[in-house]
Amino acid sequence: MTPPRSATAIAPANIAFIKYWGMQDVARTLPYNGSISMNLDACLTTTTVTFDPDLAEDELILRLYAGPAAATPARRAAGRPLERVSAQLGRLRALAGVGWRARVESANNFPSDAGIASSAAAFAALTLAGVAALGLDLDERELSLWTRRGGSGSACRSIPSGYAEWCVPGGPFDATSWDAESYAVSLAPPEHWALADVVAVVDAGVKKIGSAENHRLAATSAYFPARLAELPARLAATRDAIARRDLELLGATIEADAVSMHVVCMTSRPPSFYWNSGTMTVIHAVREWHAAGLYSYFTIDAGSNVHVICAAPDRAQLERRLAALPGVQFVLGNAVGMGARVVEMSNL
Ligand code: DP6
Repeated sequence: MTPPRSATAIAPANIAFIKYWGMQDVARTLPYNGSISMNLDACLTTTTVTFDPDLAEDELILRLYAGPAAATPARRAAGRPLERVSAQLGRLRALAGVGWRARVESANNFPSDAGIASSAAAFAALTLAGVAALGLDLDERELSLWTRRGGSGSACRSIPSGYAEWCVPGGPFDATSWDAESYAVSLAPPEHWALADVVAVVDAGVKKIGSAENHRLAATSAYFPARLAELPARLAATRDAIARRDLELLGATIEADAVSMHVVCMTSRPPSFYWNSGTMTVIHAVREWHAAGLYSYFTIDAGSNVHVICAAPDRAQLERRLAALPGVQFVLGNAVGMGARVVEMSNL
């Protein structure tokens, strides 16, 4: 049977409740610790991969989000983004035993590189579309594993549905066995617990410090061992909070984890500071609202934008309140999302 040549996949961004921060093996994208996230139903990347025997090189065409009311022009990408995409396609080609080059067209409906896990959505969509276009038969575990190997580790959590955990094997670090065992699984589907994530965008520009570089620096912080020691208890609390739908436990745990990750960033050598004054305004407001009985909690990935987690019925009120804060440019409301899925396949 001739394998399909073209496939389109949609993948969600995800927000980490417990953060992946620090890499033990850069070549294989192996973390120090497990991490847990929630998929976002409204921050999506749609990617079409077309393998074309007539192409001499891989091509990447990006349609990046340009603002809530603006058109998203297509541009041909080169340099690092194309190299990363081509490297991932190369892994999939080797798996399928083919040499065809591919045209990749990828569109986001949310700001890229601003701490909203755009590369997670992008690498999950790329991997799934590439696998489908090559006719490879991979189960969810293998898909997540190959997505992780693409280099944006958090992307492996955008493959399973709803709430996902990227587990690390127990015992001492061993690159070969960890490589074969490091992938994400779903802890619960979206309908298990109707949470919302309202992203308060305080800076929609490209973040200045890439996570890849800072993953390498994490272990230079004197606080990194303290963070790692706290993580087993925080991971257990987060699993428990999701299983029992306990928002107060989840909220206290994710706030502590976000602060801990940013303390590591601020104390790495050299240090980096992702937060701006808008970030602090949102943190203080969320804490005040929480004290007054509006149960919302903050978390922040590698950027300045603040993700505010709440129960779905409080989402509209939080969207209004957050949009009215000084420094907030716009808000992006999300429910819990499905995992990555193929939406189209064709034999050209
Ligand atoms: C802070 O290397 O997965 O979001 O830099 O977007 O490729 P990119 O992400 P990745 O690092 C993610 C770090 C994090 C925490 C997390 O998502 O677990």
